[in-house]
Amino acid sequence: MQPTKYIALIATLIFSLMSINSFANTQTESEIVKRIAPVGNIYLDGDIKITNAASVSTKSAAPRTGKQIFNTYCMACHTTGVLGAPKRGDANAWKPRLAKGMSILYKNAMAGFNSMPPKGTCADCSNEEMRSSVEFMIK
Ligand code: HEC
Repeated sequence: MQPTKYIALIATLIFSLMSINSFANTQTESEIVKRIAPVGNIYLDGDIKITNAASVSTKSAAPRTGKQIFNTYCMACHTTGVLGAPKRGDANAWKPRLAKGMSILYKNAMAGFNSMPPKGTCADCSNEEMRSSVEFMIK
């Protein structure tokens, strides 16, 4: 091979390595943005119902649904089963718990139970929201 061909080959190699590298960078960057996105900021269409223009307030929004609470606060443990958390939809895991009675389950969800943190980390959840998230979880 002639020296110019070597140079061309090496240049091509370097160039393709560079483009692979920059592709990898954009991937990790978007992944990082996803990872560090705030957890508690999910507002779905219909979350905030404005019934009266004079009473518009960000605090008195309609209660969040059990599904919304679950997806924001409970999912991390209750879809993976981490720390022995009963998984959503796992009938066998819930059977002995349901046998304790719903009022005990609500009470333990509110106050915490072993590795289950009080209110499942949803500190600003109302009693009503906690109830609907437990109901959603045992469905
Ligand atoms: C940090 C992880 C974690 C999060 C977040 C979490 N849980 Fe749990 N949860 C657990 C674990 C672990 C258990 C099992 C505790 C045990 O049986 O020792 C549990 C158990 C429960 C139980 C059954 C209690 C019982 O008496 O058997 C309910 C109900 C429950 N969680 C509701 C919720 C709700 C509702 C949320 C979200 C608002 C939530 N959890 C968020 C870890 C978590």
